[in-house]
Amino acid sequence: MPITTTNIWKQLTQLATSFGDLRVQELQLDPSRLDRYSINLPGLHADFSKHRVNDEVFSSLVNLAAESGVLERARKMMNGEAINKSENRAAMHMAMRHSPKDLTGDICDQVKSSLAELRVTSDAIRSGEWRGCTGKVITDVINIGIGGSDLGPRMVCSALREFSDGPRCHFIANVDGAEINTLLQSLDAETTLITISSKTLTTAETLRNAETALDWFRESLGIETPQTSPHCMAITASKANAMAYGIPEKQILTFPETVGGRYSVWSAIGLPVCIATGFENFEQLLAGAASMDQHFLESPLEKNLPVILGMMGIWCHNFLGLPTQAIVPYCERLRLFVDHLQQLDMESNGKSATLKGEFASAETGPVIWGQTGTNGQHAFFQLLHQGTQQVPVDFIGLVNDKLSSPAHHRMLMANMIAQSKALMLGSANDDPNKHYPGNRPSTTILLDELTPFTLGSLLALYEHKIFTQAAVWDINPFDQWGVELGKKLANELQSGGGQHDVSTLNLMKRTGLAEQ
Ligand code: F6P
Repeated sequence: MPITTTNIWKQLTQLATSFGDLRVQELQLDPSRLDRYSINLPGLHADFSKHRVNDEVFSSLVNLAAESGVLERARKMMNGEAINKSENRAAMHMAMRHSPKDLTGDICDQVKSSLAELRVTSDAIRSGEWRGCTGKVITDVINIGIGGSDLGPRMVCSALREFSDGPRCHFIANVDGAEINTLLQSLDAETTLITISSKTLTTAETLRNAETALDWFRESLGIETPQTSPHCMAITASKANAMAYGIPEKQILTFPETVGGRYSVWSAIGLPVCIATGFENFEQLLAGAASMDQHFLESPLEKNLPVILGMMGIWCHNFLGLPTQAIVPYCERLRLFVDHLQQLDMESNGKSATLKGEFASAETGPVIWGQTGTNGQHAFFQLLHQGTQQVPVDFIGLVNDKLSSPAHHRMLMANMIAQSKALMLGSANDDPNKHYPGNRPSTTILLDELTPFTLGSLLALYEHKIFTQAAVWDINPFDQWGVELGKKLANELQSGGGQHDVSTLNLMKRTGLAEQ
């Protein structure tokens, strides 16, 4: 039965008509509201009391979550059932951050060996034991990968720069040659290592960039097969493809096929994090995520933070009709968190097919966008306050920031809290230019500090929020068929093949892909 035909869905539709315009500032007059509409977890506090939700709406949303069977689905995921139906695979990213003693079967051995490989490899690179072909220690590592083989480790390395004391890690994702050419010009081939990170090792952009880097090693070091040298590693779920590429077995780190690309930072794809910050910090990242997993799997729905965050999103998106969701971290080190969430959320939940193989009857994944505060305040906050479209916002801030100073931190947090307050209260004025409608929903998440542990928890929180929403919509968050058509056409265009419409042909001629 499509979700939109259930009684609970109809009830929520009704509630949106009766309560959708409820003023949150009136609800906030109840002093006990904050207790019911906030959750404290180790290192993290979440306040969702500024949502346009009263107790009746809240309990109906919890009932909708129950009806979706989200926690039963989560347990199936943890137990390794093939919940990724269109690819007939399990989704084992949670297992990657669990202690092997809590796991059984093949996955236990895979997690053990992945962790051991990560420790040994990153220790060798960090200690200087791993040397280039001229005997020099590695000072720079370039991770060549795209999508999930880039965004996760790039974001974590950038967020945890306070903890970075290893070789410099650079990231090349885009096939835009200007990026890799500029980077290579600034590096010394003798002290550089590339990690070709790709789950499939078939991704065209990654292979193009890898070829350019290998040519650079050939020219700079005079070696014919740099892929066999200690300047090159592969991180992949396809050992066979890596070996066919010529990379020696000892320079290949693997992870299970059942770990999706955008969920892979917990696996060997996290090597740059281990190289930059050390394996112990990576273990803390895993521990933070594992503590969120435990909370998600074991907490009642009404106190389950990923479930509540997901259901606030469902209320805004499906019942209040708000099509986008902004993410605004008030911490510049979390700038790439928005990019990472865009892939995590939109590649997971931007779907039209349900798990039953029908077209979805409800709106699925919202558009995820954002920028750090305070920068965003001077860019798009005008629209958030006075635009005709309402946008729910997730504010993310730090209670303490050792890298900042009290004057800066106070100002940053005052700005974050002021924005959520202004969005909620608004300010009435007869002059439309000066009228702020208010009643605009937001969630605020506070991390005690930005540490590997709290970052791991935050990231797992959003993974499970996305999972919760997918459960309600009954869609598969672990496949990505939508990206295939564009890849196929790009290959065709590059090779000059295919039939083309007039616009496409015109653009091909203008860019040199087709003859004039
Ligand atoms: O964009 C499609 C996609 O398959 C992503 O899901 C994935 O993270 C990215 O391409 C890179 O894939 P790979 O790691 O196999 O190179």
